[in-house]
Amino acid sequence: MSRKKIIAGNWKMNVKPSETAALVKGVAEATAAAAGRVDVVCCTPAIDVPAAVAAAAGTGVEIGAENCHWEDHGAFTGEISTGMLLDAGAKYVIVGHSERRQYFGETDETVNRRARAAIAAGLTAIVCIGETLEERDAGRLQEVIRRQVNVGLKDVSAADCARLVIAYEPVWAIGTGRTATPDQAQEAHALIRSTLAALVGAETAETVRIQYGGSMKPGNAADLLAKKDIDGGLIGGASLKAADFAGIVAAAAV
Ligand code: PGA
Repeated sequence: MSRKKIIAGNWKMNVKPSETAALVKGVAEATAAAAGRVDVVCCTPAIDVPAAVAAAAGTGVEIGAENCHWEDHGAFTGEISTGMLLDAGAKYVIVGHSERRQYFGETDETVNRRARAAIAAGLTAIVCIGETLEERDAGRLQEVIRRQVNVGLKDVSAADCARLVIAYEPVWAIGTGRTATPDQAQEAHALIRSTLAALVGAETAETVRIQYGGSMKPGNAADLLAKKDIDGGLIGGASLKAADFAGIVAAAAV
């Protein structure tokens, strides 16, 4: 089964609305050679989404957000709904990033609510999972990954998987410059896929793209992306420079 690679930038809290068009246009130009062969996404702060969508119009780049609420509307001060993101032109949304789990009280249960709401609304959810260094060192990698998949994707149906991407991001590799080795990443990706298979069936699980995230760069992307179950990348630091991001997209386009 061949899965189309997907490289998504996660801008985090880094780019202002006034700076957004230049970065999106830079990404579109630098990745034009891979258009159609790789899905290229920029996930931006919600306030940047309209400018990003405008700048991406007519290019191969799609725009996503970094979080969404599970309710459609209501008294949830400070939250952003899936309907708002869709109305602004977003196609993707990151859910359950480790920084949200670590700093903002996100749990597997709230990840599940957000992911199901995003998929039901018609967005593609990029659901993030991954173990901390303490969990890995304590030999709990498998248990943590299984729990994050089983709870985070509870009640996600086989049909829903058409709008599901999973990002494996070992917390110890995010923003640290310490990348998982291709073998370490492949081991986790295979476990994610087999855990997903028990939920939605093996055939459907084979269609779901699993990105690696955590200090992925032009220099290490090719070795990671060569692995059987690594179908793309979720890119933090290197997504803020069009040339670096494009280098990763080029590695995915081979
Ligand atoms: P990084 O971040 O590429 O800067 O390690 C990845 C992420 O947090 O999505």
